[in-house]
Amino acid sequence: MLEETIKEINEKKCTIEIFGLGYVGLPLAVRLACSSFFVIGIDINQEKIANLSQNNLNESEWEIKDDFETAYKNGKLSLSTTPQKYDVPKIGIISVPTPVPKPNFKSNVHVLSAVESFLKVAKKGDIIILESSLEIGATEEVQKLIESKGFIVGKDFGLAYCPERIDPQNKKWNLENIPRVIYCSDSFTFEICKFIYHHVNSGRLIKVSTPKVAEIIKSFENSFRLVNISLVNELAILCDKLGVSVREVIEGAATKPFGYAPFYTGAGAGGHCIPKDPAFLVESSKKFGIEFQTIENALKINSLMPQYITSSINKIFETQKMNNKSIIICGLSYKTDLEDMRDSPGFKIIHEMKKFGFKVVGYDPFYKKELSHKYLLENNIPDSEIEIIPNLEDQSINNFSCLCIVQHHTKTKSRIKEIYTQSLIPIIYDCQNKLQSNSQSNTILKTLGS
Ligand SMILES: NC(=O)c1ccc[n+]([C@@H]2O[C@H](COP(=O)([O-])OP(=O)(O)OC[C@H]3O[C@@H](n4cnc5c(N)ncnc54)[C@H](O)[C@@H]3O)[C@@H](O)[C@H]2O)c1
Repeated sequence: MLEETIKEINEKKCTIEIFGLGYVGLPLAVRLACSSFFVIGIDINQEKIANLSQNNLNESEWEIKDDFETAYKNGKLSLSTTPQKYDVPKIGIISVPTPVPKPNFKSNVHVLSAVESFLKVAKKGDIIILESSLEIGATEEVQKLIESKGFIVGKDFGLAYCPERIDPQNKKWNLENIPRVIYCSDSFTFEICKFIYHHVNSGRLIKVSTPKVAEIIKSFENSFRLVNISLVNELAILCDKLGVSVREVIEGAATKPFGYAPFYTGAGAGGHCIPKDPAFLVESSKKFGIEFQTIENALKINSLMPQYITSSINKIFETQKMNNKSIIICGLSYKTDLEDMRDSPGFKIIHEMKKFGFKVVGYDPFYKKELSHKYLLENNIPDSEIEIIPNLEDQSINNFSCLCIVQHHTKTKSRIKEIYTQSLIPIIYDCQNKLQSNSQSNTILKTLGS
């Protein structure tokens, strides 16, 4: 059965349904549609489908806007909220969210729901490729779900796990050149995946023997990043105490040509991957009676960074005997030059600063007022109220005592430099340790890590 699927796919006589048109799914859908596959982008969010149908893409999607428009116009890409029945083989690619599990809420809820809807109109010879980040054992759960519908995985139905590794804003590594690990239920499914991913990343697939290996790899590589980010942030706390420049330490260590990779300070890792995938490894380990302490500690340090930063800022105010306790938190997205505000340290700093009795406002050139409620939900503070200033011009910053820089977005770089060099605000706190000290400025500059 799957052997026949290979033949049809080689002639591109197949339909690819991509579930979840977010940061991962949409660029993939466009890429495959531009490679002459017939692609259907499926998302349960009707507003998203309506916006895309009007060629209304988010700023971070503008890079693919022209390709999207072409593929949509020439009928290679269509959009829907539900999957359809087709006579030709169907490939379902699942790129839906996988949130951190909570008691009574499993991380794979959306994955299972997307797979279930694919299976409602599936037939023998079809294939499911999971791209979402998964907890250990989640692929096997999907296999059970497929088999509960009467299919035999590896014989008349293919299953693969090919976790996405995209690093938004990475100028060197992107969808087209990042190699991927992949688990496939059988050799035919692997052949099919090779053919499909040939059009995505030139088929740079590293086959692994079991789904658990692929699941662990995905969580482990992001745990490596989280542990190192937490390590350097803890070092920054020590450097603060010693009055030593953490940047000088990092750059000095980076002169060692082997066995070291530089990581830089910040207000903590946010977003949908770095703090989440390691939590998958911790939760999965617990099921086997193991405490993954390195990761647990890294997660703890990461979550405490906003508190450390706010108490450092409060101390500066106390030392300077500054009465006007007011602050602008600049950079609310979780990463520089990105509009993604999920699980972002900037929001946590706002929340913490309020506890010290500060008047707090936020600023981010990517912030969209109409999405305020969504941002609060994504940061688990749905009932908070956050005041946002429209820019960093004189009239917006005049009455504030401190500018806390969480992200040095390219769009704000020159203005921040101007605010500093022209002493337009009494205090600047730089979480990313990027602003160069300038003895001509009357502004007190404090960086995380001295
Ligand atoms: N964003 C990244 O940089 C990144 C990188 C690597 C891996 N991942 C992983 O990829 C997965 C997707 O992440 P994302 O950032 O693209 O998420 P996202 O929130 O940007 O997009 C997910 C989309 O899926 C839709 N959706 C939810 N349930 C659905 C269902 N049952 N059927 C169809 N659509 C559904 C949502 O409406 C949303 O539009 C996650 O597991 C994430 O951890 C993300």
